[in-house]
Amino acid sequence: MKNKIQELLEEVQQFNANALDDIEAFRIKFLGSKGIVKELFADFKQVEAASKKEIGQALNELRTQATEKVNALKSSSSPLNKQPKEEIDFTRPEQPVSLGARHPISIVKNQIIDVFSRIGFTVSEGPEIEDDWHNFTALNLPEYHPARDMQDTFFIEKDPDVLLRTHTSSVQVRYMEEHKPPIRTISPGRVFRNEDISARAHCIFHQVEGLYIDTDVSFADLKQTLLYFTKEMFGKSKIRLRPSYFPFTEPSAEVDIYWGLKTETDYRITKGTGWLEIMGCGMVDPNVLRNADIDPEKYSGFAFGMGIERIAMLLYQIPDIRMFYENDVRFLEQFKSVI
Ligand code: PHE
Repeated sequence: MKNKIQELLEEVQQFNANALDDIEAFRIKFLGSKGIVKELFADFKQVEAASKKEIGQALNELRTQATEKVNALKSSSSPLNKQPKEEIDFTRPEQPVSLGARHPISIVKNQIIDVFSRIGFTVSEGPEIEDDWHNFTALNLPEYHPARDMQDTFFIEKDPDVLLRTHTSSVQVRYMEEHKPPIRTISPGRVFRNEDISARAHCIFHQVEGLYIDTDVSFADLKQTLLYFTKEMFGKSKIRLRPSYFPFTEPSAEVDIYWGLKTETDYRITKGTGWLEIMGCGMVDPNVLRNADIDPEKYSGFAFGMGIERIAMLLYQIPDIRMFYENDVRFLEQFKSVI
């Protein structure tokens, strides 16, 4: 029996095949349920005790080698390995990859972040569901203050108030609670106001608000920062500030940029004046600083806030704010080439 196993071992070692059928026939012959190895193991019972060890080892060796041979031949005969390399044509065009597009709100938001981060502003974010303190009271808007009506609010719960934030100034309050001056941060995010939906207004929109607090910050710093922003963002270098009112800033102003009157669209969007309002701003009211434990005798600061939709509508000449939220691919696809 020992000689027979030796012969079979040699047969296994010498066997070679490429075709899967031949390999399978070899496997069945040696390792199948009625194969040689099975048979030999059956005969093994009759082997006398003295030779059992030696013959047993030889049998195991035969089984192992036959199994390894089958595996090795199978993997080297797989279609991938068989393909001659020179048949691959590297000059063939790639399958077209269909590209998505960023939403215009994201594009404009990223541009604004980019402009301000170049002059040292960080980005801060906060919750969309807010409490009364962060959205109103800390911003110098105590209960029953008439200016609360400037931002019609969606309340989730009354007493204590839980609401959808009406501006991202709430994020700036949170930021001041956690950081000490100098502070330079912008807060982009989604805000909610109970307004009638029209081509110009929506109950959900996006803002970027900015906050700068340090020693000796003046109104001139505010104006210079806004001028830098309008130059970078719109390529326009003329702005004007009109006195206005916000409870959290004193003095407050509305910022207009000079858009020009070159085209008919310029006439339409500027109502024939050439000027376009783009944001609100002002020097942070000392009460707001005090509410965040910042000493107004030592520090001063400015804040500003703008709507992203409005700026995107200007830059891309989008006539209706509702287009941003309808997710119509014919609209969204037009932003494919913009990063
Ligand atoms: N929070 C104001 C708004 O949403 C914008 C603003 C921010 C105005 C900062 C002045 C200073 O209308």
